[in-house]
Amino acid sequence: MSSADIYREIILDYYRHPRNFGKLERFDIASRDTNPLCGDEIEMQVKLGDGMKIEDVKFTGKGCAISQAAASMLTELAKGKPLEWVRSLAKEDVFKMLGNPDLGPSRVKCALLGMKVLKTGAYGYLGAHYDDPEEPGLR
Ligand code: FES
Repeated sequence: MSSADIYREIILDYYRHPRNFGKLERFDIASRDTNPLCGDEIEMQVKLGDGMKIEDVKFTGKGCAISQAAASMLTELAKGKPLEWVRSLAKEDVFKMLGNPDLGPSRVKCALLGMKVLKTGAYGYLGAHYDDPEEPGLR
C-alpha cells in the first residue's frame, strides 16, 4: 500500500467517523461558510479557556470527504492551542494533514473550507480581518 493510499484511507475514515463533529452547548466563537463552487458548508464553534486557549472545538457541515475530513483533522490540531495560533495556520498545514494530495483548484477549496471557517471565527473574535487568499477581493 502506497503512502497516498494510506492517506486516502485516513481521509475516508475521518469522513465516515468525523472527530469533534457536533455542537457545543457553550462556546465563545461561532462561524460558518460555504464553498461557493458546490454550496457545501461547514460551521465551527470554539470554546476558549484560560489564556485564550482553544479548550474545545466542534464542527458540523455537509460536503465531500476532503472538506469534512480536513475540518475534523483541523479541530483535533486546534485543541489546546492559543487562539492566536490560528493566525499562523497556513494552507500548507492543511495539505500536510491530508498527506499532500494532488488537488486541483476546486478540490483545494474543499480542503481549505474548514480552515477558512476557523480563521474567520478567530479573526472576528480577535477584532482582525481575514482575507481569504483563495478568494481575493471577496471580503
Ligand atoms: Fe463541496 Fe468539496 S465538493 S466541499
